[in-house]
Amino acid sequence: MPAVVIIGGQWGDEGKGRVVDYAAKNCSIIARYSAGTNAGHTIVNDLGKFSLHLIPAGIFYSEKKCLITHGVVIDPFKLLEEISMLQDRSVDISNLIISNRAHLIMPWHKIIDELEEKRRGKNAIGTTKTGTSPAFIDKVARNGIRVADLLNKKRFTEKLNLILKDKNELITKFFGSEPLAYNEILNEYSDYATKLAPYVSDTMSIVQKADENGETILLEGAQGALLDIDSGTYPYVTSAVPASIAAGACIGVGIGPKSIKKVVGVFKSYQTRVGEGPMPTELKGETGDKLRNQGLEDGTAEYGTTTGRPRRCGWFDGVLAKYTAKLNGMDAIALTRLDTLSGFEEIKVCTSYNVNGKTVDTPPGTFEELNIAIPNYETFPGWKEDVSEARQLSDLPNNARNFVKKIQSVTTTPIGMVSVGPKREQAIIIKQLLD
Ligand code: IMP
Repeated sequence: MPAVVIIGGQWGDEGKGRVVDYAAKNCSIIARYSAGTNAGHTIVNDLGKFSLHLIPAGIFYSEKKCLITHGVVIDPFKLLEEISMLQDRSVDISNLIISNRAHLIMPWHKIIDELEEKRRGKNAIGTTKTGTSPAFIDKVARNGIRVADLLNKKRFTEKLNLILKDKNELITKFFGSEPLAYNEILNEYSDYATKLAPYVSDTMSIVQKADENGETILLEGAQGALLDIDSGTYPYVTSAVPASIAAGACIGVGIGPKSIKKVVGVFKSYQTRVGEGPMPTELKGETGDKLRNQGLEDGTAEYGTTTGRPRRCGWFDGVLAKYTAKLNGMDAIALTRLDTLSGFEEIKVCTSYNVNGKTVDTPPGTFEELNIAIPNYETFPGWKEDVSEARQLSDLPNNARNFVKKIQSVTTTPIGMVSVGPKREQAIIIKQLLD
């Protein structure tokens, strides 16, 4: 089985990291194929709890190749910070390989991300301000600087000189802010070049060779399908190219669609979102607060891994889930955080919306309509029991099992795994995800 994609089915933060960490043991390559430092994964294993933004969640398996491919935009400062953090905690990262074709997040991207958000005022997108989307915009505008350029001093100097002039015009004249200094950036990035050079290679040919040899390649998605530039809740999306959906994986690593044998969608047992934009099932009162803060004691409460912002919380949105299951061609679902729902009197699943007096079971195409969509819910009795020790479906209380069955029927996709806690072993495996 050559390639398996693991993709988020909601607005990101579904728990892909823990699913990749679990599935990686049966693969020879784990490749992160899109997004930038805007993404964040939390992994809990024998070595403790780790928050990763760029390095694939498979890094903990030292015998496997861990790739950051050309679909990712790299903030070298953040990447080196992540490398040091892992080294300090005795994680072997000699298996890390970075694409020479990946684009760089430059200092102006972070500044422009801030300035643009400020300028949008009440229409702000709520970006992560990591410079990720501006770096993708420059990639598409053909104004990007790639890792290979960073390693070639002459080319880097020329490009920096040329691009910085334009960016400083924009920053000073359009935004009325302070210009960036050429020499400071040159010195900073020359240091990054020396430190990153040992990890840089042609990841595309590594993946293609593994594909030819029939090795299992795990393609690790970042964010979620609802943040995709084309299929998501535009304009409240991220600007990543390739797309944040399964189809983007081929582009992001450099293989053809026929090599993808399986798509696993990761969904939380409820809905969360960070940043602005429509969220029909959002719960603004006590129930939303309870969903957010259930994990306060064990550090798994709903606050962003990248920005620390409180996540907006709500009931599982079956209309959007069915949509993203189809959009990504999901073969199986990994349902995460079932344990968070323990202790609710009742639990709801949205199965359709009322939009302008009509009942619909597919999401409307504009954020304006999604903003006024009124969810229709099916209500299920909750369960009081702690489910974190469950290892088979039969260990779950009846009400929890019924809820899991409902997610399967509403998405028309089989559930392969249910996670009941942040640790590797806290999972119910119904069917091996890679089979
Ligand atoms: P940007 O990617 O920083 O431009 O942010 C665009 C939108 O995507 C904002 O609503 C962010 O909060 C959201 N976003 C970006 N990356 C992630 C992620 O990894 N998880 C959840 N939301 C994200």
